[in-house]
Amino acid sequence: MSTSANKTFDRPGVADYEKRRYRGLDQRLVDFREKRILRRILHGLKKEGGPAWERDGAALILDAPCGYGRFSGLLLGEGVRLVSSDLAFPMVERAVEKNEGPWHVGGAAADFRRGLPFKPGVFDYVFSMRLFHHLHAVEDREAVLREFARVAKEGVILSFYRGKGIHAFQRKLRRLFKRTQRTIKMVPRATFEKEAAAAGFTIERVVPLFRGIHAQHIAVLKKVSRG
Ligand SMILES: C[S@@+](CC[C@H](N)C(=O)[O-])C[C@H]1O[C@@H](n2cnc3c(N)ncnc32)[C@H](O)[C@@H]1O
Repeated sequence: MSTSANKTFDRPGVADYEKRRYRGLDQRLVDFREKRILRRILHGLKKEGGPAWERDGAALILDAPCGYGRFSGLLLGEGVRLVSSDLAFPMVERAVEKNEGPWHVGGAAADFRRGLPFKPGVFDYVFSMRLFHHLHAVEDREAVLREFARVAKEGVILSFYRGKGIHAFQRKLRRLFKRTQRTIKMVPRATFEKEAAAAGFTIERVVPLFRGIHAQHIAVLKKVSRG
């Protein structure tokens, strides 16, 4: 099966993907729930305050990967300044044109495993939804987390699939009957913590998408202060 993570996109491909990806009821539910959790996380961070929100009145966030800009509207609606990045340039183009405006500062295509084309500490937060579970090699996950730690001053909001026996078993069963279903990299909480710590993060909170029935979790990682 070709997925957003392994497909080479052109403009019509992006348009088609955008039209179909969150069309089914189950996917609309996932989309709804992700956005609800993310809004709560952003409100929590704003309430906490700190330099990201106080400096110029708006945090600068890197949406990485931005995909077709599913979260651009939500982020801009929360009053942040936004940069969009993705492996696929047509995705970046779509994300930027979808929510054009002075607060959508720009976009850049990059393979995050090889590095992000930004200076150290230019963003307050990196926002990374639905990438981590496509990174199967531990070296890739660690390289991406290190890059996020390099470019973000405060932290990262990131989704991952937490591997627990029951979820892995359910997926194996589904793949057995539906041969095309893609493999998702699930990582146990302890492994995720270890990989995050190696990149210089502590885990502030982890929110399950649907507790007990869905393996996706959304984590807030904060930079460990080295002072
Ligand atoms: C499942 S989509 C998620 C997009 C968006 N965050 C969302 O949740 O709608 C995964 C995205 O990751 C991008 N991607 C996959 N591997 C990547 C890599 N190594 N570096 C940068 N982006 C990557 C793909 O191009 C795709 O747009």
